[in-house]
Amino acid sequence: MKNLLICTVGLALAANLSLAQAQPHEEILAALASMAPGSPAPAEGQFVHIPPTLEDLEASNLNPELKKVIRRGYDLFTNTQQVRERYSLNDMNCDSCHMGAGRLPFSSPVWPAAVILPNYRPKNDQVNNIEERIAGCFSYSMNGEPPAYGSDDMLALTAYHQWLAKGVPVYQPGGSMYGRGFGTVAEPAQKPDYHRGKATYEAKCAVCHAEDGSGLQARGEVVFPPLWGDYSYNWGAGITRLFTLAGFVKHNMPIGQPNSLTDQEAWDLAQYIDAQERPQDPRYTGDVRETRELYGESFHKHTLYGLEVEGRLLGDHDNVGANKDFLKPEVLRDRTFN
Ligand code: HEC
Ligand code: HEC
Repeated sequence: MKNLLICTVGLALAANLSLAQAQPHEEILAALASMAPGSPAPAEGQFVHIPPTLEDLEASNLNPELKKVIRRGYDLFTNTQQVRERYSLNDMNCDSCHMGAGRLPFSSPVWPAAVILPNYRPKNDQVNNIEERIAGCFSYSMNGEPPAYGSDDMLALTAYHQWLAKGVPVYQPGGSMYGRGFGTVAEPAQKPDYHRGKATYEAKCAVCHAEDGSGLQARGEVVFPPLWGDYSYNWGAGITRLFTLAGFVKHNMPIGQPNSLTDQEAWDLAQYIDAQERPQDPRYTGDVRETRELYGESFHKHTLYGLEVEGRLLGDHDNVGANKDFLKPEVLRDRTFN
């Protein structure tokens, strides 16, 4: 009931904001503060959207068949391990990174994808639709093989994304979207440092994610996801970019205490975690330095891949990860309109 109220107010506010750039309503600010404690309040003119919940879905008058499909999408998003060995070859769920079932600000909420795509994406230098964007996270973040375009599972996932965007105008004009992505962290005073990062990791993170970064799994369920190693995301995943990882960590970790680390700690942790090994980038040419160079401008200039850190050349191996026997999923194909 509380969620429903917030949601209704949220949608009304969203409409106001896009028209009149109104100041956020107090109830919205309170809802945001409980979803993302310690995060900055929306700036004037920013577009605010509080996605509906599954309870809102049950209470809605959508067609019962559609509700079933959206529920299936939610289920795949929050328990992706049920399709382990088919689509997701590591120990992650979508909401290991898109926390709160993809609803939370600064945890890269997924609703923006439903309203800004199709759009140009620098990562693959072409226009992508929402299925291709989801396929991207399956291929890199889940180190897997995406469900086929147009398949039941892909339909379910896109329907869930679109439901979360309920009420948001398509190609929403003007203003940035509040809480999109993982948020930025100001450049630290001191250069990010591996050893300081390691000390903070051992003090504040290892209790859940383990000293060796492997996390914790119990009876086929992810309790704490791995941060590196064969069961983690691969070298092509967006979160290997230091600024993205620092943003995620600062605004979401340790779990239950978001925004408790200093900016310096977040950058040092990103430096330490990114200096560990993980499955090969699906775009690997067979030569790590060449691959870094080839995708440098659009991607790897922000990662440690192909660099020597602590005496190791990172990413210099043929290991594609646990359970995986291919490098790049076939569905990731080039497209041209020439
Ligand atoms: C290892 C972390 C991780 C996992 C797991 C992950 N993602 Fe992502 N996802 C990211 C990152 C990083 C971005 C880019 C965020 C940014 O804009 O900085 C992203 C972006 C997205 C976007 C675009 C959001 C926008 O604002 O346009 C969608 C949609 C998405 N992911 C869906 C999924 C789905 C579906 C799954 C599960 C199959 C998944 N992701 C699993 C890290 C992850
Ligand atoms: C109390 C347990 C706990 C602590 C402590 C903790 N995490 Fe997490 N972490 C989680 C859980 C659980 C998730 C998955 C998110 C979810 O399920 O909502 C996660 C997700 C992550 C992810 C994204 C998914 C992945 O596997 O890469 C990163 C990165 C991360 N944590 C880094 C850290 C860092 C850095 C610290 C220390 C500052 C930390 N965590 C402390 C429990 C914890």
